[in-house]
Amino acid sequence: MDETLREAADLVATAERVVIFTGAGISAESGVPTFREALTGLWERFDAAKLATPEAFDEDPALVWGWYEWRRALALTVAPNPGHIAATEILADAGHATLITQNVDDLHERAGATGVLHLHGSLFTPRCSACARPAALSPAPDGEPGRITPPPCDRCGAPIRPGVVWFGEALPTDGLEEAVEAAANADVLISVGTSGLVYPAAEIPQVTARMGGAVIQVNPEPTPLDPVARVNLRGPSAEILPALLRQSRPST
Ligand code: OAD
Repeated sequence: MDETLREAADLVATAERVVIFTGAGISAESGVPTFREALTGLWERFDAAKLATPEAFDEDPALVWGWYEWRRALALTVAPNPGHIAATEILADAGHATLITQNVDDLHERAGATGVLHLHGSLFTPRCSACARPAALSPAPDGEPGRITPPPCDRCGAPIRPGVVWFGEALPTDGLEEAVEAAANADVLISVGTSGLVYPAAEIPQVTARMGGAVIQVNPEPTPLDPVARVNLRGPSAEILPALLRQSRPST
């Protein structure tokens, strides 16, 4: 690990343009379950990939809204971990920096990151499912709420939906374009805690590699991105990112 960490740190230290691209794994050590983990408690019977679809919401809006309200409540009770904080600092050290996330929590922002590109939306921006009017957030529910009927839109009365991107939906065009441009121009892209299975987001590190930039991957498990990455750092991001930050700074 020491040698690969050194190699990654040298790449980060000499890069002018740095992108960090994150997935659910970076929030795992804050206590937010990743998507590929089985759901627990009340949600045990359900599959996250099936709940995160327009079809599931059409069929049973209270089930899907209740699941997202539970996730919003959970996101509010957890805190950024040392991985989120190190990511903010690595970007602050770079000349040009972009943080792209697939996560719908706000842990990067709470760790001090600004201008975060949220490719899959946010738990904190609900909108009308019919007319897209932004809706106000109600107080988050306590405990594991189960099913919750979504409130009606105050303009057209249709149910409010979470402000996230579901499977089968298009990503926000502006955010995706900005992300692809940053990835194409990056000297180094650090991919953290993503399984690399969900497209088009999974394309982002590949764009950097195709354009000649170096990809560093931080993940305890192998992923389809392994052959694309110049350096694979195996381990949890709350340990690896702080170590990478320390190594990439000149010693005093
Ligand atoms: P996944 O749940 O698919 O993958 C999480 C990744 O994090 C896995 O590769 C784990 O090995 C890794 N991991 C677990 N613990 C970690 C730790 N402590 N440190 C670092 N890595 C760790 O999550 P995503 O790749 O983010 O989309 O999933 C991509 C998209 O699929 C999500 O944004 C969501 C999902 O279904 C939509 O809802 C549209």
